[in-house]
Amino acid sequence: MPHNAFPPGPKPRFLIGNMPLAGADPLARFEAWAREYGDIFHYRAAWLPVYFLNHPDYIERVLVTQQQDFLKDRVIQNSRWFLGQGLLTNEGSSWLRQRRLSQPAFHRDRLAMYAKTIAEYSHEAVSSWRDGEVRDLHQDMMELTLRIVAKLLFGVEVGEQTQRVSHALNLLMKHSSGIRMILPPIVRYLPLPTLIRMRRAISRLDDTVYTIIRQRRASGEDTGDLLSMLIAARDEDGTQMSDRQLRDEVMTFLLAGYETTALALSWMWYLLSQNRSAEAELHQELAAVLKGRAATFGDLPQLRFTEAVVKETMRLYPPAWSVAREAAREVEIAGYRIPAGSNIVMSQWIMHRDQRYFPDPHKFDPARWLNGATQRLPRYAYFPFGGGPRLCIGASFAMMEAALVLATIAPKFSFRLLPGHLVKPVPSITLRPQHGIKMSVHELPATAGEPQHELTDSAVPYKMA
Ligand code: HEM
Repeated sequence: MPHNAFPPGPKPRFLIGNMPLAGADPLARFEAWAREYGDIFHYRAAWLPVYFLNHPDYIERVLVTQQQDFLKDRVIQNSRWFLGQGLLTNEGSSWLRQRRLSQPAFHRDRLAMYAKTIAEYSHEAVSSWRDGEVRDLHQDMMELTLRIVAKLLFGVEVGEQTQRVSHALNLLMKHSSGIRMILPPIVRYLPLPTLIRMRRAISRLDDTVYTIIRQRRASGEDTGDLLSMLIAARDEDGTQMSDRQLRDEVMTFLLAGYETTALALSWMWYLLSQNRSAEAELHQELAAVLKGRAATFGDLPQLRFTEAVVKETMRLYPPAWSVAREAAREVEIAGYRIPAGSNIVMSQWIMHRDQRYFPDPHKFDPARWLNGATQRLPRYAYFPFGGGPRLCIGASFAMMEAALVLATIAPKFSFRLLPGHLVKPVPSITLRPQHGIKMSVHELPATAGEPQHELTDSAVPYKMA
């Protein structure tokens, strides 16, 4: 029988409750509470009751086995003011329809086609980089992944449009941290300078996205990309998707499809710079497999250490640091009665650093993904892409993209953190480095002759291990 008492947790202060996201270091606060209270704890964020789950089995229940009892959480619901009813924020039958329509854009045969552009763009991105210069790798990775996703999913070439999108999305993410994440949407319409800037950014973004849609509709061209699929889709009664629905999907895929992968790559360069032996092993593998030529899709199954670097990075610095849900009805978890309307938080940051599942959890050790140890883990001890029906639709795309960008850039350059530069992860909707990742660039000698950028089409399917 579930009991009515709350799970253990910090004592709430009058009216404001606990407000961990408004504090100086929310991640440290959550870690401390997980240590103190264990597999489930409860706190109050102002008026919102929050249940924080720190056990893979409880997480599996919410994301998979009992997923029908939960809706997307308050933060995602609040982001409808700019994402509308895109795939990330949508629910029910409308979500299912849109998911089915979008899925073919992520099939394996399409990933193989995307790989060529990813390698090409990565190569171009670094072609002007010079030995000894200092760069913000986070900024560079954001530009690269936005260019990739805009081209592959919407057929948009880099240029002024992409710059505008990048500027606006950046502003949005920057101002989506701390207490702002749970404020009711009405607050966004207050005449405050930051909010005015954000509203302007969204309206400029809207202009760009509607222009992309108008141009494609007018051209009638079917390029086979995601936008073509969405435009061509028809309901049973023959009706097409409205411009508004298309806009919401495009906006969602732009935002969800570039920031997260850029973060995985940014944290990866940072971790490699701090772990020279892992970096050396990566270089060895790339030299042995590629022998000085450019990486292709067909190389990926052999680049096992490279893939392990991607996985280990997302263990320590998960770009989505938490996923959350709202209980649609009363549920029971860990013997506790959880009322309808409660918020449930499951944090990759916390689970991925739990030493019950990851020995020496703070150590960056890609080899742990190669020695069989991680295969014995409970399914939801590691969940960088979420799980269940709402699993990230771009998971395989992102894994392939991150590995290919890494395999293209790492043989050419190594990076060292600028002395004194503070690297601080901030839990916004995603896990962003507050001051960027400022690094000096070190050009590496070519391994077997001058690396040639020969890009071959390969049909070898790449799948996540
Ligand atoms: C390292 C990169 C990425 C990470 C860590 C990541 C993480 C996630 C997570 C955790 C979710 C589930 C959210 C939830 O359950 O509430 C999600 C959903 C989603 N992601 Fe990703 N993602 C990444 C890359 C991508 C890419 C490349 C795309 C598209 C090109 C994408 C598009 C989406 C979309 C549309 C959803 C909503 C899916 C649905 O609810 O049906 N993501 N992502």
